[in-house]
Amino acid sequence: MTVLADRFGRHFPYLRLSLIEACNFSCSYCLPDGYKADPDAPGLLRIDEIERLLRAFARVGLRKLRLTGGEPTLRRDLTAIIATAAKIPGIQTLAMTTNGCLLRKRRADWQAAGLNALNVSVDSLDRQRFAAITGHDRLPDILAGIDEALADGFPVLKLNAVLLRGLNDEQMPAWLDYLRERPIAVRFIELMRTGTNLEYFQRHHLRAQGLEDDLQARGWSLLPRAPAAGPAREYGHPDYRGRIGIIAPYSRDFCAGCNRLRVTARGDLRLCLFGNIGIPLRPQLQSDDDADALQASLLSQLGLKAAGHGLHEGNTGLTPHLASIGG
Ligand code: 5AD
Ligand code: SF4
Repeated sequence: MTVLADRFGRHFPYLRLSLIEACNFSCSYCLPDGYKADPDAPGLLRIDEIERLLRAFARVGLRKLRLTGGEPTLRRDLTAIIATAAKIPGIQTLAMTTNGCLLRKRRADWQAAGLNALNVSVDSLDRQRFAAITGHDRLPDILAGIDEALADGFPVLKLNAVLLRGLNDEQMPAWLDYLRERPIAVRFIELMRTGTNLEYFQRHHLRAQGLEDDLQARGWSLLPRAPAAGPAREYGHPDYRGRIGIIAPYSRDFCAGCNRLRVTARGDLRLCLFGNIGIPLRPQLQSDDDADALQASLLSQLGLKAAGHGLHEGNTGLTPHLASIGG
């Protein structure tokens, strides 16, 4: 099989597909004024286009698909999209990142359709803080949805928390209590600068180093990296069932472990979250007859993927906020 690889020897078994740009939350670091629709934007990828896209990626080595947004659960055809992806040979991990708003109502349907991994954004375990950061007082409902998923044996559950100086950086004791008995991984993500959050970034960006020092002082140790682990550093502790991951996009070598590509909700291939190019794949998604041409485009585009992002130079590329591309 021909597999996707770039000039730096990286392989790309992992695709993040955005299903929608809209989001119903207004996280202060992402969409502080809520989502504003662009009336001139072309329509979202339809399910038949998504199926052709995934079949092409699967032919060149796709093993893990993550559905993202915006908020992917706002797509009415989400369960059908999951079922479509689940029947494509090769896709072993079928994951989704969500803010959790529909977790309690719909998770069992998604699970039955083939979803086997979920990342839920939980920026704070404190109800008031959570509401202040996301604009929605939904923490108890989301946490209940997570515990129901655990009780139902949902295969892989991870929580994402963006580290925010002064907003959620004093919560380690609460997280440790939470993780003692729950087999869940929490990933603390360093805030990334995007096209629209510069002032916020300067106020709230916090390096994860202090948190890592604190963890080590509490007896947590860095776990060996799985070969296809992606960019998180993971810590474990013998007294805890949960794990803690750190995603530090500003750290050295972050990009060296890159194993992912992105496709936007309107079908543009994005080689890097912070890249400057979006390659429209949509023209090749209209008919099954274009499958070979689509595969050839994917293989040749990878030759253009750069070694690393330009964030250190303040270059945020095309990304105005992560809702536009799915994090
Ligand atoms: N920096 C870091 N993480 C972000 N996310 C959204 N915007 C940013 C940002 N600027 C995270 C969300 C969610 C995931 C989709 O991306 O909190 O967990
Ligand atoms: Fe919505 Fe996610 Fe952005 Fe929050 S971070 S506003 S949940 S897209």
